Amino acid sequence: MSSSGSQSIQSVLKETRTFAPPATFSAEAHIGSQQQYDAMWKRAKDDPAGFWGEMAENLDWFRRWDTVLQGQMPETQWFVGGKINASYNCVDRHLLGPHRNKAAIIWEGEPGDTRVLRYQDLHREVCKFANVLKKLGVQTGDRVTLYMPMIPELTIAMLACARIGAVHSIIFGGFSSEAVADRNNDARARVVVTADGGWRRGKEVPLKAAVDTSLDKCPTVEKVVVVRRTGGEVDMVPDRDFWWHELMESVTADCDPVPLDSEHPLFILYTSGSTGKPKGVLHTTAGYLLGTTMTSRWVFDLKEDDTYWCTADIGWITGHSYICYGPLSNGATVVMYEGAPNWPDEGRFWEIIEKYRVSIFYTAPTAIRAFIKWGDQWPEKHDLSSLRLLGSVGEPINPEAWMWYHKVIGQERCPIVDTWWQTETGSIMISPLPGVTATKPGSCCRPLPGIVPDIVTRDGQSLGPNEGGLLVMRQPWPSMLRTLYGDHERFKKTYFSEVPGCYFAGDGARHDEDGYLWVMGRVDDVLNVSGHRLSTMEVESTLVAHSKVAEAAVVGFPHEIKGEGICCFVTLKSGEGDEALKAELVQHVRHSIGALATPDQIRFATALPKTRSGKIMRRLLRDIAAGRESTQDTTTLEDLSILAKLRSDEE
Ligand code: WTA
Repeated sequence: MSSSGSQSIQSVLKETRTFAPPATFSAEAHIGSQQQYDAMWKRAKDDPAGFWGEMAENLDWFRRWDTVLQGQMPETQWFVGGKINASYNCVDRHLLGPHRNKAAIIWEGEPGDTRVLRYQDLHREVCKFANVLKKLGVQTGDRVTLYMPMIPELTIAMLACARIGAVHSIIFGGFSSEAVADRNNDARARVVVTADGGWRRGKEVPLKAAVDTSLDKCPTVEKVVVVRRTGGEVDMVPDRDFWWHELMESVTADCDPVPLDSEHPLFILYTSGSTGKPKGVLHTTAGYLLGTTMTSRWVFDLKEDDTYWCTADIGWITGHSYICYGPLSNGATVVMYEGAPNWPDEGRFWEIIEKYRVSIFYTAPTAIRAFIKWGDQWPEKHDLSSLRLLGSVGEPINPEAWMWYHKVIGQERCPIVDTWWQTETGSIMISPLPGVTATKPGSCCRPLPGIVPDIVTRDGQSLGPNEGGLLVMRQPWPSMLRTLYGDHERFKKTYFSEVPGCYFAGDGARHDEDGYLWVMGRVDDVLNVSGHRLSTMEVESTLVAHSKVAEAAVVGFPHEIKGEGICCFVTLKSGEGDEALKAELVQHVRHSIGALATPDQIRFATALPKTRSGKIMRRLLRDIAAGRESTQDTTTLEDLSILAKLRSDEE
């Protein structure tokens, strides 16, 4: 292994290529040596309370905790007795010194308009919007839905909720009005904050109109606040709907942060599971904030003069943790961009990096695959020399894409951190440390301090090197989810019943002889489309809700850009399917769930392959969708002729 990134060793076997961090990077890093990492990891494993108690000194508390960790998984509580406020930690504490004039958010809209909020500007706006929420009757513990474009008001609204102890539930702007209604109702939201619209590929995404449609079905929602972003036409319902800018004029900028219990809920974020409706993952204040604060420092190695850009939408956990709470708690400068990467052309991201001298860039494999497809000429047009660190999240990154990222974007200079984590884990769990880890393309490498993963069989037996199994966590960590909102039984069943004594959230993995982790993907019926989790079951239920559909089975298949594409096998109640019906079903799914669930293939079948006990044989369908010869055992298949029929129907 070399000690310099530019002298990385390449062998013919992909798996043995390693890339050691440049010595200059290690010398400056927060965690800079293997010894330091080993000592931290061991200390945290042997004495979690001692370790995390020490880490918690990095946050500002109104009252110190009495007990660091109480209880066992799944019923753990962290920093019991402590009083804290996330908005204080992300904003107020940076006003005490020279940071008050540092840029907190450098924002760029898709049309090219820009705004910079210094920490003291952010403080003023957060305080004012917290007062607006209070004026609308929002109290500590109430749920507020945020359905907004990527504009600074979204971060402001999050922190304003946190300031008064209201629980935010952010719904990604790509979801449909039906998805908004479901989530509003599940969370029993009292207030919705939205915008007239947002810009995406030059078109206006009409958010307020979607909220209006959803509210017919949402009895708990009393008030709607609307940011004027696009200037598009909206209907304002008197006494229900208010303009953000008008409300902001009616309040002062004085609003003390409420000292909240460590375990006070901070937010709910809905994510897909293999069965039933979306799960409202609930995170609490102190543990989540500690996890995101420390991992931002360890993994992104945030420094005073960094300009940090995470390209996720705040509507996903990556945006919550690594656009808002983690970096802001560290007093970082965060770049935020509203729109699409290929608007007005495929060079937009590289233009932004050059323009703001971005030093840390965090994106997703699906985006990287799109960049590769668009061609090297786009990044080559821009000066990317400000970059010093690259990150990836959302799905396994193919070694080929990793190499491209390393060469073309990182110019063989920047370490890559491939970060494995989940909505449920709150913060990064397994990742290289950029100043320590010799990375291997495609591996998320080693667990962070305080994280104790294992690869096991269904009955909890640890597996040896290169034996594939279930990825579990053997010890609790501060930023883990505490419950599924309104359904604690489902929480226990989903994450803690599969493997005795462990947290399990659905991924298969192996570790190699060096202890590096290789995530192999989901083992449940969850698709990973463009790095976003979608339940096959939800798409199936949506299809079956269509009047012409009798039965549907949805499976993923390899997709060049999206990672996984969505293939729907559909049997009709009567008659034959045609192209018009295919188009109708695609629209139906888009309308019910949102554009991200758009099926890539609809295949009509006279019947679906089932076992004798009536279970749809999905693995078989996966092979068919991928155009693979099936190696599956078909001896349990009820009617073999169905298979021949499905294959002959292939497009
Ligand atoms: C997958 C996103 C491999 C994994 C933060 C996980 C990954 C799911 C990686 C969580 C990675 C995320 N390598 N797989 N670096 N990061 N995943 O909740 O299957 O949207 O369970 O959180 O994405 O997706 P979620």
